[in-house]
Amino acid sequence: MSELDGRRAVVTGGTRGGIGAAVSARLTAAGATVITTARSTPADLPDPELFVAADVSTPDGVARVARAALDRLGGVDIVVHVVGGSRQEPGGVLALSDHDWQHEFAVNLFSAVRLDRALLPSMIEQGRGAIVHVTSVQRRVPLPTTVPYAAAKSALTSYSKNLAGQMAPKGIRVNTVSPGFVETAGASGMVSALAAADGVDEDTARRTIMDSIGGIPLGRPARPDEVAELVTFLVSDRASSIVGAEHVIDGGSTRTI
Ligand SMILES: NC(=O)c1ccc[n+]([C@@H]2O[C@H](COP(=O)([O-])OP(=O)(O)OC[C@H]3O[C@@H](n4cnc5c(N)ncnc54)[C@H](OP(=O)(O)O)[C@@H]3O)[C@@H](O)[C@H]2O)c1
Repeated sequence: MSELDGRRAVVTGGTRGGIGAAVSARLTAAGATVITTARSTPADLPDPELFVAADVSTPDGVARVARAALDRLGGVDIVVHVVGGSRQEPGGVLALSDHDWQHEFAVNLFSAVRLDRALLPSMIEQGRGAIVHVTSVQRRVPLPTTVPYAAAKSALTSYSKNLAGQMAPKGIRVNTVSPGFVETAGASGMVSALAAADGVDEDTARRTIMDSIGGIPLGRPARPDEVAELVTFLVSDRASSIVGAEHVIDGGSTRTI
């Protein structure tokens, strides 16, 4: 019997070789039935019933995901909110419009708040569940190029901590995972593009990116499967008294205590 046999999970942002794809694969390997979401539908979907095409930065998109999860799975035991990201707007912080700020908060904060609000009533009713919000080390160490993103991830961390305190008495554990540089398929593409632009090899380009975030003592970015391992632990019964905690996975790049 596998550790998560019979558990029903929703993972947002589960395609394109990102962290969500690794989390979906790892939870599935542990026995869970996993519904994943993304805006675009991948060509090679193994089971269309376990995918919802929706933009979770919008109320309608979240409602569609929640409805599909409750209808198709009959309830939810695990929610891993992975969707997030930043657009680097040129021109510095004063050039950012209300729209820029609202977009970053819609993607990085409200998507999670709305999905939790839609799914938590059924989790409360069953008296058990586990939620993980994926934030970023930028919530502690913000970069000047992604100001709204870092602010939204800070807000997500604060929200998650508060939610954890309110949900624990109802049998639902909430935690955050805070990655540093993770070499997803998208990040690998960035490394290749930088290597081509600078006329250097990929190791040199990767090191340039690591240096730009202050270096990584481990000497390499994390892999998506390493983040998935941590998430899987946190939603499993092995983490049964871990509540409202932030788990940094960054190869040592965050030097604060
Ligand atoms: N990679 C890193 O180095 C790193 C570091 C720190 C924190 N993080 C955090 O980790 C999380 C995952 O990052 P990642 O690098 O794995 O992302 P990614 O590789 O860009 O993957 C993003 C996934 O989310 C989906 N997606 C994006 N926007 C969406 C939306 N509005 N609605 C629904 N689906 C959406 C994408 O599919 P579609 O494009 O088809 O929608 C894709 O499946 C994010 O919260 C990010 O902030 C990542």
